[in-house]
Amino acid sequence: MQQQTLWGHPKGLYILFFTELWERFSYYGMRAILVLYLTAKTEDLNAGLGWDNVSALQLYGWYTMLVYAMSVPGGLLADRLLGQKKTVMLGGILLCIGHFILAFDSIVAFYSGLVFIIMGVGALKPNISSMVGSLYRKGDGRRDTAFTIFYVGINIGAFSAPLLVGYVGEVINWHYGFGLAGIGMAIGQIVYIFGLRYLKGIGDFLPHKIHEGTNKKVKLTSVEKDRMIVLLLSFIIVIVFWGAYEQAGGLMNLYAKEKIDRFMWGFEVPASFLQSLHAFYVILIGAPMAWFWVQWQKKGWESSSLFKMGLGTIITGFGFILLAGAAMQTLESIDGKASIYWLFGAYFLHVVGELSISPVALSFITKMSPAKYVSFMMGAYFLATGIASKIAGLIGEAAQSAGELTIFLGVFAFCVAFGFVLIIFVKKLKKLTHGADDIVDNVVVVEPE
Ligand code: PHE
Repeated sequence: MQQQTLWGHPKGLYILFFTELWERFSYYGMRAILVLYLTAKTEDLNAGLGWDNVSALQLYGWYTMLVYAMSVPGGLLADRLLGQKKTVMLGGILLCIGHFILAFDSIVAFYSGLVFIIMGVGALKPNISSMVGSLYRKGDGRRDTAFTIFYVGINIGAFSAPLLVGYVGEVINWHYGFGLAGIGMAIGQIVYIFGLRYLKGIGDFLPHKIHEGTNKKVKLTSVEKDRMIVLLLSFIIVIVFWGAYEQAGGLMNLYAKEKIDRFMWGFEVPASFLQSLHAFYVILIGAPMAWFWVQWQKKGWESSSLFKMGLGTIITGFGFILLAGAAMQTLESIDGKASIYWLFGAYFLHVVGELSISPVALSFITKMSPAKYVSFMMGAYFLATGIASKIAGLIGEAAQSAGELTIFLGVFAFCVAFGFVLIIFVKKLKKLTHGADDIVDNVVVVEPE
């Protein structure tokens, strides 16, 4: 089947791009005000729930972990019962319900809203990512670029949401903020429904049904087993990377609030604004970096996914050297504060690392998993992200007693050493992929498998 293309990619990519953009808008928008809402006083004009900080952060931790952990059942649901396309549809409906319920001012509504969102993200997020991969045939060189484009969409949502939903929720009314996140999700759902015609044959594949007739016990071949091993290894990389990067929302957020001089041009930048910086950088350098990797690969230089991930981990590690610089300045300066530019630099390097790892890992999973397990493995990948978020929290806690300088230097050393070991073994590890990571041709005709 030939698909209609636009700017060199199947039109379906743009449907998935805008759906995910709005889903992330709702997710990050709601997330940006969740803790603030929980801790706002009950007698405030814009009344919150009046919780203490510790309880609020605990709920936040569980919430962000569960959202991604639910990707495992979400992936299974798609693999076993519904297929990805319908599971994404279901996830979108659950998310619309969840976000709109949060617009109501009641504690029952609050908890049920969270449950709907957790289930909704679990159903939508891993499966929409798998669908991006299904738009391209094996060996199609555009797949990595497609994931980078998709990733930019995610970050347009992630950048704008904390500013818009954050403003409406914090300044006007929390529940209007939650409602605005819901409107965003509803727009995403409408885009998806109207875009279905560009997704014919994508995400409908029900692998176990096809295998039932021929092979009752579906066993993995030895090639598939090797690929699973290398895939599991890539999950470890992902845990190391996100475990370091996700300091941003916790430790780095507090650090920015307490120990960074945030005055710029006579204006004090709120610490929370710095939370948009990652997404801003992704939008800024996402396309140039994708272009850079294409040129690199054209020159015939090492450009396997594992190599990029190793390099990304090292670059992220170097971001922590800048943070260590900030920590040193904090210790030495009279007012106990460091320059904001350390953070600008560190977050920039973190995003160069992110773009070498995160979209690459998404693409890698769709290349490496046997078709019948793609959604499940995608779910497992998101679970790894959830675990990493928890680890990041623990590192942040450790910094409270060990001090930031020690922690930043430790993260730097670990990431750099880990990345180098990976690069040294890249040739050996590549063998385990049995060619699934190689670009075999630059096919123009796009056919789903
Ligand atoms: N910004 C990314 C996103 O929301 C972070 C992320 C990556 C989350 C991988 C989960 C898994 O998509």
